[in-house]
Amino acid sequence: MAGNLLVSEEKSVSKGVQQMSIEGDEPPSQYIVKGNTFGSKDSSALIPIPVIDVSLLSSEAELENLRSALSSAGCFQAIGHGMSSSYLEKIREVAKQFFALPEEEKQKYGRAVNESEGYGNDRVVSDKQVLDWSYRLSLRVFPQKVRRLSLWPKNPTDFSEKLEEFSTKVKSMMDYLLRCMARSLNLPEGSFLDQFGEESMMLARFNFYPRCSRPDLVLGVKPHTDRSGITVLLQDKEVEGLQVLIDDNWVSVPTMPDAFVVNLGDQMQIMSNGIFKSIMHRVVTNTEKMRMSLAIFNEPDPGNEIGPAEGLIDESRPRLYRSVKDYGHINYKCYQEGKIPLETLKIADS
Ligand code: OGA
Ligand code: NI
Repeated sequence: MAGNLLVSEEKSVSKGVQQMSIEGDEPPSQYIVKGNTFGSKDSSALIPIPVIDVSLLSSEAELENLRSALSSAGCFQAIGHGMSSSYLEKIREVAKQFFALPEEEKQKYGRAVNESEGYGNDRVVSDKQVLDWSYRLSLRVFPQKVRRLSLWPKNPTDFSEKLEEFSTKVKSMMDYLLRCMARSLNLPEGSFLDQFGEESMMLARFNFYPRCSRPDLVLGVKPHTDRSGITVLLQDKEVEGLQVLIDDNWVSVPTMPDAFVVNLGDQMQIMSNGIFKSIMHRVVTNTEKMRMSLAIFNEPDPGNEIGPAEGLIDESRPRLYRSVKDYGHINYKCYQEGKIPLETLKIADS
């Protein structure tokens, strides 16, 4: 947790993760994770991650599997989504080509101090913050008018075209999944999707996790829930690293080259009145191989007020959360103040 600090000044970190990884450095103290805030058991427990075939979601049986996956695990591996393995491989390829560029070339798209878009490491907001053993490229993709094209890599030359095309496909899959999620709870199809609005936001985050000489001391990404409505993750084809917290166990999400990991974020936990779970997850590193991933986050228009769907509130299940606008902002503020954002929206028991 960030502690009770409201620091907006960003501190600089001298040597980058990529350089430390190449030189086999021991991680410096700012990267070392102290204690285990969440999840007491580091088990390789045999808790399977549900698999959902998107092409079967017109059937009641698969809809029921979807509902069950989201209300227990809060995530699933999506197959049958219509994107071929060679297509997914091309997307991974452009990401790898970008990350393989010399640092000064990547810095042309560098994240400005106090901003979150662009290429770089963690945004540092507090002296106590533990840094992630990763670097990333974050780009806003939708609505189209918010794109900052000066931060979109020109190298490899087809980067922008591939990102545009891929995120458009992912967006239509997400929209479809949101309709299915509503149907799985016997709600009108638009109960969630309509809350996202015409101007829903989409952010693409390319993550790169170089190997680390001491994976026991650091994390690629610290435990967190996503602030999104819904997140679609294209994992590395071979290298594992993502873990999700299920029943207090850290469970590794196996690599399935043609599947997407779909998880819900906080805003879908709110809209589903707590029935669907925004799952806690983290990324571990290893000594052998670097890992890449591409996360696509979809969020409601920050101008829209979102809240639990009416059909999910009744006497046996009272409204859990108050309605909010711009949850992203609340989430960021809470993070700086060391509060759990969803807790601040809970309606006290009457
Ligand atoms: C994230 C995230 C997981 C991964 O970017 O929010 O959880 O496997 N990424 O990179
Ligand atoms: Ni995440």
